[in-house]
Amino acid sequence: MSHTSPPQVPADIPATIAATKQKLRSSIGDVAGAFEIVRAQVLDRIEEIRVLQAQGSSVWPEVNFSDIAANTVSDASKVAVKRFGCAVVRGTFPREQAQAWDDQLAAYLEENRFFETYEYRDDGFFTSLAKTRPSIFPIYWSKPQIEARQDDNMALTRRFMNSFWRHESEGRVWFDPTRDSHYPDRIRRRPPGTNSDGLSPHSDSGALERWLEPAYHQVFRHIYQGNPDRYDPWDGAYRPLVEEYDTPRRCSTFRTFQGWTALSDMKSDQGVLHTIPIPEAITYQLLRALQSDIDDDDLCGAGPSQTLGIFERYHAELFNGLVPIPDVEPGDTVWWHCDMIHSVGPVFNQQGWGNVMYIPASPWCDKNEAYARQCGEAFSEGRSPRDFANEDYEISWQNRATFADLNERGQAQLGLSWES
Ligand SMILES: [Fe+2]
Repeated sequence: MSHTSPPQVPADIPATIAATKQKLRSSIGDVAGAFEIVRAQVLDRIEEIRVLQAQGSSVWPEVNFSDIAANTVSDASKVAVKRFGCAVVRGTFPREQAQAWDDQLAAYLEENRFFETYEYRDDGFFTSLAKTRPSIFPIYWSKPQIEARQDDNMALTRRFMNSFWRHESEGRVWFDPTRDSHYPDRIRRRPPGTNSDGLSPHSDSGALERWLEPAYHQVFRHIYQGNPDRYDPWDGAYRPLVEEYDTPRRCSTFRTFQGWTALSDMKSDQGVLHTIPIPEAITYQLLRALQSDIDDDDLCGAGPSQTLGIFERYHAELFNGLVPIPDVEPGDTVWWHCDMIHSVGPVFNQQGWGNVMYIPASPWCDKNEAYARQCGEAFSEGRSPRDFANEDYEISWQNRATFADLNERGQAQLGLSWES
C-alpha cells in the first residue's frame, strides 16, 4: 500500500458529482430497485430497535471488560455487537483511575491557564449542524490521555473490537487487529448546568468521498455493482486505502471504531451520544443520493470538509432509529462502527459533568503507521496533530507527557520504536 499526498477536493464539485453519479448509476443498473432492497432492510432494523426500546432495553450492547480479559464474552453479546455495530465496554478502567485522570486533566488545563488563553476556532466542520458553546478542547498530549491510549486494558479492548472485522480478504491482509496505532484526539469537558443543542446526526470518515473516492468504490463495490445484499460492513477490504480530501478537517487513519473513554458519570438523558445502531445504514445513504428525485449534481447535501449529515428532507425515516447510549460511569468505554450515523442529544441544565477522552480503535496498517509517525513528531514537540487545527497550545505547557511517559506499547504506537 503506497502513500501519496491526500487527494484534493475536486475543482468543480457539481460537475464531478454529476459525472460520478452517471457512472455509478449505470454500474448499479436498477438504482431504484437496489435502494428498495436496502431501504426495506434498514426499516426492518429500525422496527426491531423500536420494539427493543419499547421493552425498556437500551439497545446498545454492553460487554464487561472483565469478560474480555478472561475471554468469556458470550456468543449472544458478540452477535449483538455485530448486529448493532456499537458497544459500551463496562469497566475498561477502574472507576477510581478514570476519576483520577479527570482530576489530572482539570489540573493540567488550570495550571497552564487554558481557559484564559483559549480562542475557539470554528473550522467549519460542523457548519451545517446545530452547535452551541464548544466543550471539546484541542488538548492531545496530557499524561492521562497517553496513559489511557497505551494501557493494557485499552489494548485488549481495541483488540476485541477489531476482531469483529475481517482483516484478511480479497487475497490481502488489510490491517493487524492485534496492534493499534496512536490516534491522538481531543477531550470534552462539559460542566454541570450546561445548555447545549447537541450535534445533528451525521457520520464521519468522509462525506463526498463516499461516492467520489476510488477506494470507497472498492469498499462499497457490492453496492455500486448493484448487489447490495452482498455488502458486509465488517469487511476491511480496501478500507485502509481510503484517502479523505485534503481539507483542514480530514481523518488520516482507518478507524474500525470511533470511541471514547468516560471520565464522569453520564446519564442517558443528559445530552449524550446517540447512534442509529445499524452499520448497514450507510447503504441507505449511498443509494438514496442516487435516486431520481435528487439533482444530478447533488449528493443529498454532502459537501467538502463537512461530516456526512442526514436530513429530514432526504432521510426522514432514519431518524426513528436514533437511540442514546445507556448510562455510563467513569472508566467505561464507548465504541461505534466508523460508518455509523451518530448525534449528540440536546441538554438543558445538564446534571453532573460530561467528560470524555476521545480514543478510537485505529489498527496497525501502512496508512495508520504513516500518520502515527507524524504524530510521534508532533508529540515530541507538543504540537497539535496534523488532523486538527494547528493551535499548538501544549508546546509550552507544564506537565505535558514526554517520551519518558511512554511504555513500550506507547512508543510503538507512535512509530518511535519498532518493537511492539
Ligand atoms: Fe462525529
